[in-house]
Amino acid sequence: MSDILVHTEAGIRTVTLNRVDKKNSITSAMYGAMADALASAVDDPAVRVVLFQGHETVFSAGNDIGDFLNNPPAGLDSPVFRFLQGIATFPKPLLAAVCGPAVGVGTTMLFHCDLVYAGDNAAFSMPFVNLGLCPEAASSLLVPQMLGYHRAAEALLLGEPFMAEAALEVGLVNRVLPPTEASTYAQGVAKKLAAKPLSSLIETKRLMKKGQSDLVIKTIAEEGASFGRMLREPAAKEAFGAFMERRKPDFSKV
Ligand code: COA
Repeated sequence: MSDILVHTEAGIRTVTLNRVDKKNSITSAMYGAMADALASAVDDPAVRVVLFQGHETVFSAGNDIGDFLNNPPAGLDSPVFRFLQGIATFPKPLLAAVCGPAVGVGTTMLFHCDLVYAGDNAAFSMPFVNLGLCPEAASSLLVPQMLGYHRAAEALLLGEPFMAEAALEVGLVNRVLPPTEASTYAQGVAKKLAAKPLSSLIETKRLMKKGQSDLVIKTIAEEGASFGRMLREPAAKEAFGAFMERRKPDFSKV
């Protein structure tokens, strides 16, 4: 079975992260499949809404650390950047149903979704600093905008996780539900959206986002250049090595 499942029915394209044994951590191939699922939906009249979901127990553990070490993304046409640009510029409504851990890009991708429904077990975290890295997916811009600077500093400098209720309070999620109900609820909302006039949805989303769409793309590229460089530096190597060896990282020399 594929690690990314793509199913389109009644105007709704559902993209499911399906690598639960590895906590839905995302490999380069998975980024490529998600980027393709978005790109092919842009002009496909059969797709009116896209919904991302994981499993009731885990949304995503973020980048697959081994894959990132072995195949660090090179350049803006790499699968991860194709996905980030695709999700940031996708013109139709984007929804997400999120339960359990949502680490790194598992959280930052949600800032590009229009509606987010969370299980009450959802735990959001952006531990880029703890990994010797820096924010991605324009999160250095979007997290302070949504959370306010000081809460963003807790999330991005300290890398502290926050739970579903806190995410609801800051407006990152629209509703908190029992984990068994989050995907079904999100499907119901997707169905409502799919019944609305697509041209109005697209134009409304464009108008809401136009104020900073260029800045978001520029930020993704700037963060990407730093992230790519930092992946090859000693702090990230120590953090990733420590994860693989199941020990605490030692940053005393970096
Ligand atoms: N990359 C690669 N493999 C990962 C992974 C990741 N980001 N996250 C989890 N896995 C793998 C583990 O290595 C383990 O594999 P194994 O069974 O072959 O040993 C399996 O998934 C289960 O992970 P485990 O850590 O035992 O699950 P948990 O329920 O105790 O914890 C998380 C879940 C998500 C909290 C924890 O796995 C985690 O913190 N992962 C790393 C998150 C991260 O730093 N991501 C990078 C963001 S840029």
